[in-house]
Amino acid sequence: ISSYPSYIDLLPSIQTCNITNLPENYFLKYYLYHALTWPQLSFVAVVRPKNGYAKSNGIAGAGAAGNVAGEYPKVVGYVLAKMEEEPTDGMQHGHITSLSVMRTHRRLGIAERLMRMSQLAMSESHRANYVSLHVRVSNTAALRLYRDTLGFEVEKVESKYYADGEDAYAMRLKLDGQW
Ligand code: ACO
Repeated sequence: ISSYPSYIDLLPSIQTCNITNLPENYFLKYYLYHALTWPQLSFVAVVRPKNGYAKSNGIAGAGAAGNVAGEYPKVVGYVLAKMEEEPTDGMQHGHITSLSVMRTHRRLGIAERLMRMSQLAMSESHRANYVSLHVRVSNTAALRLYRDTLGFEVEKVESKYYADGEDAYAMRLKLDGQW
């Protein structure tokens, strides 16, 4: 796991991971906005190609070359995170925009580690008081992770939060003194 080493190269792979795992999808520019505005807060888990990263033809990051299979590490998990820009409660806090891990790499502790790294960065780099997120009420795997493993609490239910009409739990975790 590393913080975006060359996020522009990895963006398509992060987007693929998101589209594969979640119905909430974003334009590439939204990922870029996160990485440029809060570079400390988002992390990826990657599998490096067998023949070595950026070794094959030496044109790393040069347009189409970046899309050749095996050219760049494959993203198998990511956490996309930000600071709330205009907090209504006046409290500095972070927000998890999106988190997912490829099926092939689940139950290995990747999501937990991505979350803990982002939480630590929110606390240390931005003095975040707490971190918030939304999760589908039916998403038992994510709920177990957030509530039981990481210690998030349900703040409220947001009715019909998702485009398909499902409710969301608005959750938060206090960051003070956690580390
Ligand atoms: N069932 C029950 N508990 C689970 C499950 C599961 N399927 N998956 C994770 N957990 C809990 C367990 O307590 C687990 O600890 P354990 O393995 O020691 O029992 C703990 O969470 C940590 O699990 P990780 O291995 O770190 O989780 P993983 O890397 O597998 O990723 C995730 C979990 C992100 C929820 C994954 O299943 C996924 O990508 N799901 C689809 C996308 C998704 O739902 N993302 C979250 C949406 S909300 C948002 O983005 C803010």
